[in-house]
Amino acid sequence: MRIIIGENYDEISKKAALIVAAQVILQPDCVLGLATGSTPLGLYRELIAMYQRGEVDFSKVTTFNLDEYYPITPDHPQSYHYFMYQNLFNHINVQPENIHLPNGTAEPVEAECSNYERMIAAAGGIDLQVLGIGVNGHIGFNEPNPYLHARTHLTDLKEETIKVNSRFFQSEAEVPRQALTMGIGTILKARRILLLASGENKAQAIKKTVQGLVTTECPASFLQTHPDVTLLLDREAAALLG
Ligand code: F6R
Repeated sequence: MRIIIGENYDEISKKAALIVAAQVILQPDCVLGLATGSTPLGLYRELIAMYQRGEVDFSKVTTFNLDEYYPITPDHPQSYHYFMYQNLFNHINVQPENIHLPNGTAEPVEAECSNYERMIAAAGGIDLQVLGIGVNGHIGFNEPNPYLHARTHLTDLKEETIKVNSRFFQSEAEVPRQALTMGIGTILKARRILLLASGENKAQAIKKTVQGLVTTECPASFLQTHPDVTLLLDREAAALLG
């Protein structure tokens, strides 16, 4: 694992944008795996600014998002679909037909999951996967459990995840209890992985990810088995690394 520590959130957001932009410049038709949540907002802001300055062109890029709540309609303001358009896709020149997110209204859900895997494979696999990390060590919505799913699947969200994510909803009761997510194997198949973490509430999960045993109780610890992972951390998130 390559670990890069920045002073603060702004610094890691800028560095992350440089890494993603470099990927797109080197390989204009690359496949990006994208995440939602608070952490990548700064990265997306920087990428939009780079696009506006004419520094990076997304016209040939394909994207696959990690996850989506289930059930949720794409126009719901808390759907990850809506989030991605609001915070990135509406502001850059990625082609609509090249954008992919799991469909939070799909029926039957198993067909949606296997189709998502097929589409990733048909696109040639993910070149660079951007990840955040949950306070409980989840990546995508692969929650700590006695077992993990390898491929895209429907999963139950943990109480702690529902609580943490309720900050985006009117109330905790409104947070969907399930989500569609790439599996741990889908994530590990990406050629390169860039995980961002900011803030002291992520420090424990980062310590387990880097220095703990590889265990399903900390899904991010599986990143230790991948040959090309970069962790971009601010000082607070890195605070417990020995
Ligand atoms: C989001 C995702 C999640 C988040 C994680 C951290 O697509 O897959 O794993 O990355 O929950 O969320 P934030 O960044 O809001 O702390």
